[in-house]
Order: sequence, then C-alpha cells, then structure tokens
Amino acid sequence: MARLRRLASPWRGVTARALPARGPASLCSIVAAIALAGAAPCLAQTGIPTQTGVATAGTVQGGASLEPGTMQARLAACTACHGEQGRAGADGYYPRLAGKPQDYLYHQLQNFRDGRRQYRPMAHLLRDLPDAYLRDIAAWFSGQHPPYPAPAPTTADAAQMARGSQLVRQGDKARGLPACSACHGAALSGVLPAIPGLLGLPRDYIGAQVGSWQSGLRRAAAPDCMADVARRLEPADIAAVAAWLSAQPVPQGSPPPGAPGGGDGGGYVPAPAGSVTLPVQCGSQEDAR
Ligand code: HEC
Ligand code: HEC
Repeated sequence: MARLRRLASPWRGVTARALPARGPASLCSIVAAIALAGAAPCLAQTGIPTQTGVATAGTVQGGASLEPGTMQARLAACTACHGEQGRAGADGYYPRLAGKPQDYLYHQLQNFRDGRRQYRPMAHLLRDLPDAYLRDIAAWFSGQHPPYPAPAPTTADAAQMARGSQLVRQGDKARGLPACSACHGAALSGVLPAIPGLLGLPRDYIGAQVGSWQSGLRRAAAPDCMADVARRLEPADIAAVAAWLSAQPVPQGSPPPGAPGGGDGGGYVPAPAGSVTLPVQCGSQEDAR
C-alpha cells in the first residue's frame, strides 16, 4: 500500500498547469507559437514531425481569419502535438483526439478556451476562436479513425491490476463509487453525445485528469459528475484504474459507416445516445445538443 501511494502521489501534483515544464510540451509550445507567428517552416528544425509539409500550410493567423485550405492543413499546429489525424502524441501524454465523441471534443475546446481546463499553449491557440469554428474542429477530429497502437507494457503488479479492474467494472459500493463503465459504457468506448471512451489513453494522462478534477483545475458542466467520482478516489485507486485502463488493448474493427474507409462500425466506437442510463446526472451529457 505504501508503495502504491508513493507511486500515485505525484499525480496529485501533476496538474495541467505544470505541464508546459515537461520536456516535449515546452518544445511543442514553442512550435505552436512559431506556427501562430506564421513561421511554420521552423517546425522542421525542431524535430517534431510535420506530416509531409502540412505544417507550412497550417498558419493560423489570429483565429477567425484562417487561410482557406483543408481542415488538415489548418490544424497542423494541433497535430504537431496530437499526432497525425489526432492519433496521439509520441511523448506518452498528449491525448488522442481521433474518433472521440464530437460533442465531448467541442466541450473540451470550450473548456481550454474559457479556463475550465488549464493548458496554456492550447488556450493561446484557441483564444478568440468562435464556437462555430470549435465545432468544426471537433467534427474533424471526431471523424478520424486511424488505428490504435498496442498499449504500453505495464509495470503494475497483479493486485493493482485486480483493484483497477474491480473499480472500473464494479465500482466501490461502500464508498458510493459507481463503476466507471456505468457512465463510460460497458465497452468503455464512451456514450454519445458527450462521454468519452477510457481505453487508448496514456496512464499518466488518466492520472493527471482525475487529479485535476480533484483539485478543481478541470471542470465540466454542472452537475459535474466526474468531479464527484474523482473526489471519491484515493491515490492508490487512481494508480490502479490508470494502470488497468492504459494496459487494455483497444478492440480493432472497422470505422463507423460514412467514415473514410467506413464499414459497419464494429470497432471501438461510442455507444449510441440514450443506450446507457447514467447512475447520476452529468451536466456535460445533458447540455450537449
Ligand atoms: C503544445 C502542445 C499542444 C498543442 C499545440 C495542442 N494541444 Fe491539445 N492538448 C495538449 C495537452 C498536453 C493536452 C492535455 C492537457 C491536460 O492535461 O488537460 C491536450 C488536450 C486536448 C484536448 C482534450 C482531449 C481529451 O480527451 O479530453 C483536445 C480536444 C485538444 N487538446 C485539442 C487541440 C486542438 C484542436 C489543438 C489545435 C487548435 C490543440 N489541441 C493543440 C497539447 C497540445
Ligand atoms: C457518473 C458518471 C461517470 C462515472 C461513474 C465516471 N465518469 Fe469519467 N467522465 C464522465 C463524464 C460525463 C466525462 C466527460 C466530462 C467532460 O465533459 O469534461 C468523463 C470524463 C472522464 C475522463 C476524461 C477523459 C479524457 O479524454 O480526458 C476520464 C479520464 C475519466 N472520465 C475517468 C473515469 C474513471 C477512471 C472512472 C471510474 C473510476 C470514471 N471516469 C467514472 C462521467 C463519469
């Protein structure tokens, strides 16, 4: 237990506010600033993948006055950190955006812009962008379906994995903690319109998000059910769920109908709206269109 607590305790302190100090993040924030200034060719000198010249076309000039071009080109500053098509960054922290529920992504872009999530490079990029443009960005990333990589090998022991699995699948009645799957869906693939899936996320990212909810740095629309869940989790619980979730392979399958290369949607896609009855109210799910 003592060991688990030591492992978990840094996450209490890992807030999004502290992130720019992390190596790749600070490099990337410079890249983003450069892209904003219209000197995108500098991207190539930083060693950050620029995706076959897309970065040079992705100059974002003060938000609304964006150059005409494909969404992919416009979002080059984003994919410099979030990976091609938003498939996740290479540093083990920048989260995947691809395929997440459109309304969930839209809410997060508003949250970063309006100070309910803290990450300065993104707040800077999103400042003054109108809601309609945030919706377009959310729609684009939501419609991308690149394959998921295999999970990183876990260092968690069997007891920690068992505890993680139990909390995710059954919760902890004694503490009034619902199962994660009660809201995030039986397949943990999220629930439309606005609840995200929990697989395919880095362990550190999961830990940091729960920690940010505990400390109030991350907020969602009231009632903020996820904040209530986070406050019921002990540091060892956070370590256990983060270890277990991040070690699960993401079910492969064809992308949803209508997506590029689309099929029957048999893969890891959010459950339909209304298919899950939440154990408590969640403002972000109800606020969604
Ligand atoms: C400098 C690197 C960087 C850039 C540039 C960047 N992001 Fe992010 N993004 C991050 C990090 C780091 C997080 C996680 C922050 C946290 O811990 O809350 C994040 C989180 C997000 C999330 C929330 C994901 C989730 O699952 O909740 C969305 C959506 C997002 N970014 C979209 C964008 C878009 C759109 C752009 C371009 C306008 C962009 N980002 C540019 C680093 C970046
Ligand atoms: C009562 C419903 C509910 C339960 C139970 C719940 N969640 Fe959530 N969770 C949500 C909602 C709603 C969101 C989206 C909040 C937002 O819009 O920012 C969310 C978002 C998240 C995110 C952010 C994902 C990302 O990409 O940034 C993480 C991580 C998360 N939940 C982890 C968990 C874990 C771990 C558990 C179980 C211990 C859990 N949740 C249980 C409702 C719930």
